[in-house]
Amino acid sequence: MMSRFIAIASGKGGVGRTSLTFNLGVAMSLFGEKIVMLDLDLVMANLDVITGLLNPDVTLHDVLVRDQSIEDCVYEIENDIRVIPTGIHFETLKHINPNYISWNKIIQEGSEYGDVFLMDIPAGINANIFDGLPEGTEVLLLTNSTMPSVADALKIKILFSELDIDVLGFVLNMWYDDKFLLSPNEIEAILEVPLMSTIPYDRELERALAMGRSVVEVNQSSPTSNAIMQLAADLLGKNYKPIEPDKQSILNRLKKFVGLLPEGK
Ligand SMILES: Nc1ncnc2c1ncn2[C@@H]1O[C@H](COP(=O)(O)OP(=O)(O)OP(=O)(O)O)[C@@H](O)[C@H]1O
Ligand SMILES: [Mg+2]
Repeated sequence: MMSRFIAIASGKGGVGRTSLTFNLGVAMSLFGEKIVMLDLDLVMANLDVITGLLNPDVTLHDVLVRDQSIEDCVYEIENDIRVIPTGIHFETLKHINPNYISWNKIIQEGSEYGDVFLMDIPAGINANIFDGLPEGTEVLLLTNSTMPSVADALKIKILFSELDIDVLGFVLNMWYDDKFLLSPNEIEAILEVPLMSTIPYDRELERALAMGRSVVEVNQSSPTSNAIMQLAADLLGKNYKPIEPDKQSILNRLKKFVGLLPEGK
């Protein structure tokens, strides 16, 4: 199966890569794509927790130290959404040398299980991971509106261009209007790649994740969900019409409640 490889990278930690990997994966699956997700952080992986995949029998760690195959650690968490969990056992980690992992092999094998392979790239610079990205990998840079996160995204962008890896553009996450923060236009001017999406700061996104769900399922008409769905559509070359909150029905319910509209209308 021919896969698309999309990497979500930021440089700086904590800007929302793992959340976006999951939410974008769910959004793309709603457009009918078969998704595989992988967290490339061997030490501090979160994708297993975020996707609700706690305590899987076999993880990538077992593949790396016990010669198990990727096939044994591909888990379907929802229809057409698969996750390759990375494992959290520190004991096993002692037997893994992160510099000698063939990420390319793991990614190629894992990609057999879907059409779009989403990769959550750990913060910082890890030569072994960057070298292991398959040919044709498309990178989404993720940043917040703060100077440190934009500066780190810029460093990563420069690194990718040196490696001839295609950066599609950047996604501005946790955005809110504040004159002390960098604006989307200012960030675009610094990074010199297109702004692909602006995802608001939204506690609903966190609440959904706490329930092991994606905001695009929990609250479809929120600006956050619409932004993520639109990003998925743009990446897939599909059309998406934003889902507006149904204000009329809320108003009608209110009118019925106060007796302005008869019941059943
Ligand atoms: N748009 C958003 N609005 C509000 N909270 C968000 C948003 N995006 C992510 N978060 C929250 O921010 C926190 C960090 O997100 P996440 O773990 O996805 O970041 P990360 O870049 O993967 O971090 P790490 O470097 O630790 O891997 C989480 O609690 C997540 O729920
Ligand atoms: Mg993460």
